[in-house]
Amino acid sequence: MKEYQIAVLPGDGIGPEVTGEAVRVLQAAGERFGLQFALQDYAVGAAGVAAAGDPLPPETRAAVVKADAVLLGAVGDPSLDHAPRRMRPESGLLALRGLLGVYANLRPVATNPALAFCSPLKPEHLAGVDILIVRELVGGLYYGEPRGREDGGRAAVNTLRYTEAEVERVARVALAAARTRRRRLLSVDKANVLETSQLWRETVTRVAQDYPDVTLEHAYVDYAAMRLVTDSAGIDVLLTENMFGDILSDEAAVLAGSLGLLPSASLGDGPGLFEPIHGSAPALAGKDVANPIGAIASAALLLRHGLGLAEPAGAVEQAIAAALEQGARTRDIARPSDRMIGTREMGGWIAELVRSPAKRPLSLVR
Ligand code: IPM
Ligand code: MN
Repeated sequence: MKEYQIAVLPGDGIGPEVTGEAVRVLQAAGERFGLQFALQDYAVGAAGVAAAGDPLPPETRAAVVKADAVLLGAVGDPSLDHAPRRMRPESGLLALRGLLGVYANLRPVATNPALAFCSPLKPEHLAGVDILIVRELVGGLYYGEPRGREDGGRAAVNTLRYTEAEVERVARVALAAARTRRRRLLSVDKANVLETSQLWRETVTRVAQDYPDVTLEHAYVDYAAMRLVTDSAGIDVLLTENMFGDILSDEAAVLAGSLGLLPSASLGDGPGLFEPIHGSAPALAGKDVANPIGAIASAALLLRHGLGLAEPAGAVEQAIAAALEQGARTRDIARPSDRMIGTREMGGWIAELVRSPAKRPLSLVR
């Protein structure tokens, strides 16, 4: 039997807690579907700096490129806020994305009627929302050179640069995804101001000719930000560059009700990287309060996109939906009158539902 090699990078803050639950759920899926996972932990972010003086230590680099898939928690630690850039936890994450060449970041955002009360938006804006954000992940402002402080620190520069090839490959991922969904692509740019966006728009328009069954629409990012909350159900696949995608995906999380629910898959030509979109939330770390669903749903994406195991992936997603349906609520998604559960109980509940979907977990029988 094939043994899948999964590099687990728990990272910082709540990262270790939520990845711990994602690993439990993966093991449950392994038991149910007869799959073998070799899960090995490696340091990244502030944990990498602490262990090896490097936010992406050489040992981690060597492991991730050999793995079948990489599961990541979160990076970021306030103690390194003023550290030089190469020592910052976020630099480790960017180096990891660059090393794996994961240019297409998939961030699905769907609403769940059971959690509509968590969102500040009116219920009529939430019905039927099912969006896939495709964010370019290894180009643009995050990586452009030259960059840095100038004039003794009194000026600073970052560079926004895209090549046609970089736009084309991520556009193909978004167009192919649209084909499996409602066949609509909203490409987001700022082509009224930026040359990179003009190139983006021209390239997406050209590539979309190969997908005549997909309806393409372009929108400026300011208008798209508004559309996300006023016409969310009308958006199917939203394609955009790195920085716009970072901003719009946090905005879209408001639709789902909590940042803690949302997963992501970052895909390139080698092993994929799977991580929740939330950060390390240092204030919540070590308290058993973080919502592990973003990490667990990322494990589902790892099964589907990283290992090509669609059925176990669906089973994990169904278990998450069932747990929410049955009333499992961490602090971020609880009403004052709800029984609140911790990170571990939520993970255990979902793992149990993966093992035996028909069973109502014991933790609920009161
Ligand atoms: C994300 C995060 C990262 C990003 C940070 C931690 C570098 O906000 O994955 O959305 O900006 O890409
Ligand atoms: Mn972000």
